[in-house]
Amino acid sequence: MPSESSVAMVASAIRAEAGRRQAGERLPSTREFVRTLGVSPVTVSRALASLVSEGVVVTRPGEGSFVAARSGGGAGQAADFSWQTLALGERRTSASGVLVSLEEPPPGEIPLASGYLHLSLLPVRALAAAVARAARRPDAWERPPVTGIGGLRAWFARSAGGQADAADVIVTPGAQGALAAAFRALVPAGEALLVESPTYPGALAVAASAGIRTVPVPVDSDGIRPDALARAFAATGARAAYCQPTFHNPTGAVLSGERRPQVLAVAAAAGAFVIEDDYGRYLAHERPAPPPLIAEDTDGRVVHLTSLTKPASPSLRVGALIARGPVAERLRDIRVVDDFFVSRPLQEAALELVSSPAWPRHLASLARALATRRAALAAALQQRIPQFTVPVLPRGGVCLWVRMPGHLADDRLARMAARHGAVISPGRSFYPAEPPGSFIRLSFAAAARPEDLHEGVRRLALALPAA
Ligand SMILES: Cc1ncc(COP(=O)(O)O)c(C=O)c1O
Repeated sequence: MPSESSVAMVASAIRAEAGRRQAGERLPSTREFVRTLGVSPVTVSRALASLVSEGVVVTRPGEGSFVAARSGGGAGQAADFSWQTLALGERRTSASGVLVSLEEPPPGEIPLASGYLHLSLLPVRALAAAVARAARRPDAWERPPVTGIGGLRAWFARSAGGQADAADVIVTPGAQGALAAAFRALVPAGEALLVESPTYPGALAVAASAGIRTVPVPVDSDGIRPDALARAFAATGARAAYCQPTFHNPTGAVLSGERRPQVLAVAAAAGAFVIEDDYGRYLAHERPAPPPLIAEDTDGRVVHLTSLTKPASPSLRVGALIARGPVAERLRDIRVVDDFFVSRPLQEAALELVSSPAWPRHLASLARALATRRAALAAALQQRIPQFTVPVLPRGGVCLWVRMPGHLADDRLARMAARHGAVISPGRSFYPAEPPGSFIRLSFAAAARPEDLHEGVRRLALALPAA
């Protein structure tokens, strides 16, 4: 499969070729581009398709590709957008904390920032088979029930365990959409949401975008601290707390068995909800993962969300919200108002995938691969940068949370590492307020091979200031 960057490079070569010709002139054939650019026919045809959609090229079946007629209007004049500054006003939504995980790293760079799996770790064959089977279903293009197709909802409910059933599940476009719905359903703009500190930057971005104040509650190697949670509820009057009890992103901590009932009791005493982000359910290195908090919930206290994007594919944007009681209707209404529902073929494909025998096999081999990569990254760090420490060696998830000596600035190191060809996440983007120390997050999932993790750490070491 050609990478986006090679398609973009070929597209820019063909665009330049088109620029040298008159409108209507024929472009070289695909075969000639394959020969002169040294790429595959698939790369050329994807590049041509993108130029067709840009209006640079037209293709005529059986005749070839031609330079499209150029539109004259306004070309060459820089538009004046300054009026937008006043019309737009204050900026609430910033994606900078999450884009580092979503953007394709430049060619040759080692991606140690993205929390999504490298293509080689995805169940590509099983996904292809699932999509093909889903597409053959006679009702694949029918409108689904707004909360999702029954089989998938039942599967998510079963995976969560506890008292939830299919009727309590809303299928969402991944965990991000679920988070946005949960925060907006439970916390009015201007009010407080308690969050773990550090926490997932995408959650902080969602809260900021909804005008919600995030109030930090510290996390240690056993997860969120119930004593601090109780104090934060008392101080703020917050009615919801957001946490990741399993393979917390970024620290990797798992909420201990002792603390689980304490967290639920503290939330109950405050009359508050617990929003459980269970993004890492299928990313345990030694399976099975600990049961989610919702499995212990007896009174609709926990609003649970999970996703298939991490273990299956970042493009299988299917996740779930699970909630019991009146809150479920609020969540459903927000989801419907925002998006109506998740595309049915995608839901059908997700159901085909998770019900196939290939799914447990994939999870088992993913667990082994992640454990190997975690060990490789930790060993490389210990060997090359022993002054960096990893407070929790995670038993699941895709990253190491690395503490650095206090004099090292995480954002500066991230910039220097990028110059040496390694992309890392500075720790500060995981904090709702000032970080208590200097941290970076290193992902071991996105690199092409475990060996690349050694190379990434070698480059990171080069980025360190000379002692
Ligand atoms: C803790 C956490 N929650 C939610 C998400 C969003 O995941 P999804 O791709 O399912 O929207 C992520 C993605 O990195 C995450 O790390």
